[in-house]
Amino acid sequence: MPLLRTFNLTREYYHEITAMVYKKQNWKPGTLIYPLPAAMISVGASPEEYNIITVSWLGTICSDPAMCYISVRPNRHSYEILKKNGEFVINLTNEDLAKATDWCGVKSGKEFNKFNEMGLSPQKATVVNAPIIGESPLSIECKVKDIIPLGSHDMFIAEVVNIQADERFIDASSGEFKLDTAKLIAYSHGHYYHLGQEIGKFGWTVQKKK
Ligand SMILES: Cc1cc2nc3c(=O)[nH]c(=O)nc-3n(C[C@H](O)[C@H](O)[C@H](O)COP(=O)(O)O)c2cc1C
Repeated sequence: MPLLRTFNLTREYYHEITAMVYKKQNWKPGTLIYPLPAAMISVGASPEEYNIITVSWLGTICSDPAMCYISVRPNRHSYEILKKNGEFVINLTNEDLAKATDWCGVKSGKEFNKFNEMGLSPQKATVVNAPIIGESPLSIECKVKDIIPLGSHDMFIAEVVNIQADERFIDASSGEFKLDTAKLIAYSHGHYYHLGQEIGKFGWTVQKKK
């Protein structure tokens, strides 16, 4: 609150003037938690069944065991494949994959072989029976534990059973996975973005200065 110090304001007066500046509106409930990833989910137990669906309704829900969810509408071509096989791969997307990410989110596997159309390479997953997308910097192999119907979407709760990390983004000397060099993209309110410059590191606000 630099204004407080600069102008020697009382805390009450400060809240009064900032409340005037940031006037709020009440909106009906909606899906406005952003930014989110736009990940490409690969499914299918055989090449004939392979498909990719772009999802933004996804996230981490437990650290140990590592667990996550994706929410999928039952009318998607991928839905029945997901339900039948109970396995899928979350492929993180980067700038090179931005076009494929959007295209796989507007076209259906009912009509297209999305791997072929987008020139993507289905590669063997290590644990699950679904392909990884070879071009993705990070492919997270998941096994479905539960399916919760919520309304428009069903939530697939899954355990992470293996991760394939692209060596292009692993620092050879430190072994560190340099996610910052992978050029990951974010999705916010209908638009895709580059990630901007780093503004801090976990815990930087309490770190002692050296
Ligand atoms: C950025 C983006 C995010 C999306 N997120 C979801 C999602 O979370 N869940 C979902 O069911 N569909 C989502 N979609 C829509 C599906 O990807 C789209 O309907 C796709 O064509 C389904 O493919 P399929 O019929 O081959 O399964 C999203 C689309 C885009 C472009």
